[in-house]
Amino acid sequence: MNRDWNPSLYQSSHSFVWEYGRDLLGLLAPLAGERILDVGCGTGQLTAEIARAGAEVLGIDHSVSMITQARRNFPDQRFEVQDVCAMPFRTEFDAVFSNAALHWVERADDAAAAMARALKPGGRLVVEFGGRGNTRALLEALRLALKARHGAEPQRVNPWFFPSVGEYASLLERHGLEVTFATLFDRPTALEGGGEGLANWFAMFGASLTEELRQPEFVRLVEQAAAPSLLRDGVWWADYRRLRVAARKEG
Ligand code: BEZ
Repeated sequence: MNRDWNPSLYQSSHSFVWEYGRDLLGLLAPLAGERILDVGCGTGQLTAEIARAGAEVLGIDHSVSMITQARRNFPDQRFEVQDVCAMPFRTEFDAVFSNAALHWVERADDAAAAMARALKPGGRLVVEFGGRGNTRALLEALRLALKARHGAEPQRVNPWFFPSVGEYASLLERHGLEVTFATLFDRPTALEGGGEGLANWFAMFGASLTEELRQPEFVRLVEQAAAPSLLRDGVWWADYRRLRVAARKEG
């Protein structure tokens, strides 16, 4: 999938990503002196927050532009461009943390294997990302708009990995991670930008789904289809569902 991330748009209109992620830090409970890996750190806000607890944190992201922005935001923090599936780390970290990133990783099995390898025995994994049913109404609106425009059923419009609790827990267990907590919950999320909230969301996250999302008149079609379920009092809502999981590396 082509991901031409726009860090400026991300920071100016999508702060809810790390604002909600703060809640996950309670489950991570970082301690002073721990070595922690933040997978898919984006522009670094949560990496910096983990560091404030006194932990030594490395933030990684696949996107060069995100890491460039993270380094600008937090020059004292360590950030690296890394593909989670190909990370070289071996039994180095007390904890691996990830917020709102793993649904982008198509090779979920390779990602789990690499995160498990990076942990010390007894180390913990704390992750949250889109779970089964995430953005169902958003994607349905896109499907309806594509169908209205082309008069035929469009091809697959969900390139993301949104697993159920059972699927993801089994996957982690196959890599020697004992799941200690797992939940799937609705998190309707108000999109920033008022009447432009949905357009912003597709501009940030959906541009790679179909070229048509670059056309304002097509985005208006998607908005028409989405409005009955996702527009309330002038505010657009994303129908997010979060999968939150904690696990411990066996051994
Ligand atoms: C999410 O955070 O759930 C999400 C973000 C962008 C695309 C798909 C899902």
